Amino acid sequence: MGGNKIWKIAMVGLGGIAEDTYMAQMPRNTGVEVVAFCDIKPERTAHFSQKYGIDRIYSNVDDLLANEDFDILMDTASIQAHYEINMKALKAGKHLYSQKPIGLTVAEATDMIEAAKANNVKFAASPIHMLRPDIIEARRLIKNGILGKITLVRAMSAHGGPEYFQYRANDPSWFFEPGAGALYDMGVHALHTVTGVMGPAKAVSCMAAISQPSRTVRSGSFDGKPIDSNKLYDNYMIHLDFGGGAIGDIVTGFCVKASTAPSLEIYGEYGAINFVQGGMKVYLDDHARKIRGWIDQQPQERPAPSFYQCSCIMDLIAAIEEDRQPAITAEHARHVIEIMCQVEECAADGTVRKLSTTF
Ligand SMILES: NC(=O)c1ccc[n+]([C@@H]2O[C@H](COP(=O)([O-])OP(=O)(O)OC[C@H]3O[C@@H](n4cnc5c(N)ncnc54)[C@H](O)[C@@H]3O)[C@@H](O)[C@H]2O)c1
Repeated sequence: MGGNKIWKIAMVGLGGIAEDTYMAQMPRNTGVEVVAFCDIKPERTAHFSQKYGIDRIYSNVDDLLANEDFDILMDTASIQAHYEINMKALKAGKHLYSQKPIGLTVAEATDMIEAAKANNVKFAASPIHMLRPDIIEARRLIKNGILGKITLVRAMSAHGGPEYFQYRANDPSWFFEPGAGALYDMGVHALHTVTGVMGPAKAVSCMAAISQPSRTVRSGSFDGKPIDSNKLYDNYMIHLDFGGGAIGDIVTGFCVKASTAPSLEIYGEYGAINFVQGGMKVYLDDHARKIRGWIDQQPQERPAPSFYQCSCIMDLIAAIEEDRQPAITAEHARHVIEIMCQVEECAADGTVRKLSTTF
């Protein structure tokens, strides 16, 4: 980035994603230094301190903020802890990257957006899909009218459950407790990609079920541990209305052991874009030139600097330096949080609910 400043980062929440994704990818970032770690579990701070050779460790975010000099707080803690950690960081004048969802309600998201403005700091909100080159390209094609009027979008974001496939060092039971769950952990991804390409939705309905009310951890440090998974839905079919004749359909949950289905499909009057394993496929129906079929789309722009999950930090730093919004905005995250809150209500009473937030 511009200048010689080294941006100091403190990481709060030292679990699977902090270790396997962010710390693993941090060396790809330039001009940044992780200076401190924080987790409520002493074994996690001890493990991170030893593994990464950083002795500035804290057991709570208050002590971190009171005693550590840094620029950016990365909140990679469990979902239920995000709002409190994020508000404390923003009020302390720290730039913030928060794992998803940033909070559990629209009111919480609004609090954070206002706190970021009041304290003149930048706030980047996960998921990171709006930084993905394939999503950026799909948005460009749609904006340029390649597909004509968009009619239908479908997305799937599901896996077999956090107890199923990951070699977790931490106990995954919290994913099945109120404030977390399949919608907030996985549905958030599909809802971000769908609204990212379509814009804000106008209404939502949903059918959901608790399909696997008991589970057993399948690998990692807690292998064999039984989990009561009967408090929250784990299987969702969500429907969205974007207005103007465009509708959407999303499958999410913790009940899909494996799938070859496209992660995202966008259909319009003149073609389709499908995200399948192996990349983005574009189908065009050009009546005037009498051609139709799948095309082998070549990149039209010089490739952007390579994308990786932790590149969200480089975008946040660029946003600070250029005084612009990060590409992954808290306003977008708030709209998805509104959808998720309404999904729970729709699933319970079978209604269609209107949405009011935009981004
Ligand atoms: N693991 C993944 O593959 C993955 C992928 C994408 C996103 N995420 C998201 O990342 C976040 C963390 O997920 P994870 O899988 O790493 O969970 P995890 O259970 O492995 O780790 C969470 C850590 O946060 C700590 N923590 C909880 N409350 C805290 C607090 N108040 N202060 C400090 N630390 C606190 C816990 O002690 C734990 O060490 C979640 O928002 C999750 O949705 C995870």
